[in-house]
Amino acid sequence: MSRKVAIVTGGASGIGLATCRRFVAQGWNVVSADLSHAPGDGVASADNRSIDIRTDVTDEGDLRRLRDVAEGAFGRVDAVVTSAGTADNAPVRQTTPERFRRTLELNLVSTFAVVREFVDLLAADGGGSVVTIASVSGLRGSVDRASYSASKGGVIALTTQLAIELASEGIRVNCVAPGSTLTPLARRAQSPDMQRAILESIPMHRYADPNEIAEVVTFVAGPAAGFVTGQTWTVDGGQSMGAGWNLPKDRHDN
Ligand SMILES: NC(=O)c1ccc[n+]([C@@H]2O[C@H](COP(=O)([O-])OP(=O)(O)OC[C@H]3O[C@@H](n4cnc5c(N)ncnc54)[C@H](O)[C@@H]3O)[C@@H](O)[C@H]2O)c1
Repeated sequence: MSRKVAIVTGGASGIGLATCRRFVAQGWNVVSADLSHAPGDGVASADNRSIDIRTDVTDEGDLRRLRDVAEGAFGRVDAVVTSAGTADNAPVRQTTPERFRRTLELNLVSTFAVVREFVDLLAADGGGSVVTIASVSGLRGSVDRASYSASKGGVIALTTQLAIELASEGIRVNCVAPGSTLTPLARRAQSPDMQRAILESIPMHRYADPNEIAEVVTFVAGPAAGFVTGQTWTVDGGQSMGAGWNLPKDRHDN
């Protein structure tokens, strides 16, 4: 039997990159779709086990091309992981409706569009699985995250909706909600004040390593979780058990 195939959006960095590596280590073939990959029709690894393809997940034409490249290269898709996303840390007054919309477009609308593009291929061999990536910010509130929290709460709701609708086709849909994870995104988006406040809010008092998230993503995606669907797997060192973080009133060193 041919190797299983996973599509990972946001596969060039952070949680997506760690997920691609974990899939390959477990014997899967992988298509990594990311805006930061080189333009062209896809770059295959030396052993032809993985392909990097430049994709803007907010562009429907790019998503069709991604599906065509994946199908042409491997002929099947068994799992789709939607890790492409962004953070948006800003107080309400700085979050214009246009900014709010952009965050929703990338984090939420593209998650739906990616799944929709691959539904037929996932169903073709009797089913497969989807793992969406939300955040503890989709589960409970904190400060300066109106658009981000709304987008990730939407991803969690979307996951249950898709899970129910697609179950009869053998497609499982689950969500992983990471807590604060040490990736380029976290380094970029969080001010020192915010990082201190976040650490205080994590009972295990450290950030997650991206590999710790990838381990859960690939487990939920794979056959060992064959009867699991519609669930949100929180991987956060206990962060979501508390009240979330706050910042001092004279905050904002960013
Ligand atoms: N790092 C954290 O603390 C954390 C916590 C919870 C949830 N998350 C979520 O995990 C996911 C991955 O985040 P990360 O921390 O690994 O970030 P990251 O910045 O390291 O990786 C995100 C990847 O998405 C890609 N990307 C961005 N826009 C894209 C687009 N339009 N089309 C295709 N690719 C695009 C980027 O090029 C990048 O490679 C995101 O959805 C993020 O919201 C991260």
